[in-house]
Amino acid sequence: MAHGSGHNLTLEEMDKRFFFHPATSISDHLTNGPRIMERASGVRVEDTNGVSLIDGAAGLWCVNVGYGRQEIVDAISEQAKKLAFFHSFTSMSNEPAIRLSERIMRMVPEGMSRVFFGNSGSDANDTNIKLVWYYNNLRGLPQKKKIISRQRAYHGVTLGGGSCTGLPINHDKFDLPLDRFRHTLSVDQYREKPEGMSEQSFAAHLADALERMILDENPDTIAAFIAEPVMGTGGVLPPPEGYFDKVQEVLDRYDVLMIVDEVICGFGRLGAMFGSDHFGIRPDFMTLAKGLSSGYQPISGSVVSERVWQVLEESAPSMPGFGHGFTYSAHPICAAAALANLDILEREDLVSNAASSGAYLKQQLDEALGHHPMVGDIRGVGLMIGIELVADKATKQSLDPALKVAPRVMRQGYENGIICRALPHRDVIAMSPPLTFSKDDCEEYVAGLSASIRDVTDELIRSGDWTPGQHH
Ligand SMILES: Cc1ncc(COP(=O)(O)O)c(C=O)c1O
Repeated sequence: MAHGSGHNLTLEEMDKRFFFHPATSISDHLTNGPRIMERASGVRVEDTNGVSLIDGAAGLWCVNVGYGRQEIVDAISEQAKKLAFFHSFTSMSNEPAIRLSERIMRMVPEGMSRVFFGNSGSDANDTNIKLVWYYNNLRGLPQKKKIISRQRAYHGVTLGGGSCTGLPINHDKFDLPLDRFRHTLSVDQYREKPEGMSEQSFAAHLADALERMILDENPDTIAAFIAEPVMGTGGVLPPPEGYFDKVQEVLDRYDVLMIVDEVICGFGRLGAMFGSDHFGIRPDFMTLAKGLSSGYQPISGSVVSERVWQVLEESAPSMPGFGHGFTYSAHPICAAAALANLDILEREDLVSNAASSGAYLKQQLDEALGHHPMVGDIRGVGLMIGIELVADKATKQSLDPALKVAPRVMRQGYENGIICRALPHRDVIAMSPPLTFSKDDCEEYVAGLSASIRDVTDELIRSGDWTPGQHH
């Protein structure tokens, strides 16, 4: 059909006709069309039909301070009036970006030095990957370039970040991963840790597998390891106890750098400011995005350590310049939004609330759903929780992917007043509400989610697609 104008079309029709949606099934979308969000306040979002939903996902794990914060809106508006844009190439700077960099460097773990700004988690990971390569070239180690990530990791969708991602849906048909990228074992305790094995032993097993990979590949070719403190999109997978200590010992042994992808975990989600704090990780690079501005403006940060910075600084006089930067790096409006967001995060002590509300939400979920025959595992840290749905609890047998059970629970949630997310790998439901979530919010949310799981299970029983406690 010719393009034509959208004059006589409804918003839904125009959307289906002109809008290429990210991470969306093209066929489902053309059949079912969009759900159009119109406004949001606190922990609730409302669509154009006036349906109000508790956003248990905080958008895409990002609206940490909740919606409708006037203070952030004002900061954005004032900055837009004063200086809507100026770049930061060739030493140009602006006050919000300067203040934000100082503030971030006060917040991150010891040993970090500078922050480079971008606009998404993906670009911040690409920046870190390029900096690893740049750093090793400056050190005279041009062979030391491979990056080890983990199966089921999610680090975004750009060529570098997407290559670190370990999910088939983000690789297949896109010709990813690029060479130079490897994937070691994930930290799936529910499925991979043998019955009766301690977390410490499982951690040692995973660290051994990493070490074997480094040796097999040749340590002189391995530059960095990248990890989310708690794996998000791959299934909400917290590491076994002692994991990062053991991994860092291996990395230190072979001069392999540690990139910590804090895009979800950073800024309070786990009940600590950063996942690195929670697990005692010593990063060489950190990737920040999402909670840095709670999504009010797109901004990301690549934080480099003192050790890396020293090499960059010492080599600078002999270099023509630093050839990496985005037009919107250190965008003044984004930086102003981030500063106002961090004011709220700190003033309201939302990091502590994430710890206490997270514990309460987990307890409520355990009580409401722990015995459900389709609920295999409820896991998480702070306000980052996942529920793995299975065909058979005793054998942990997965549900038939064709039944699309988790996506159906997600859709049923809209009927029951809540948003949860179905993750792309197996049937895992993810929850990552705003860090302002109260006990009342937790209770209302769990009621809506339990009803949704019940509705979908009833449907599956009626259609004969699933029977409690039996193999399929
Ligand atoms: C851990 C992690 N890293 C990177 C990204 C990519 O961020 P963006 O979508 O802003 O590019 C995400 C997004 O969900 C993420 O969860």
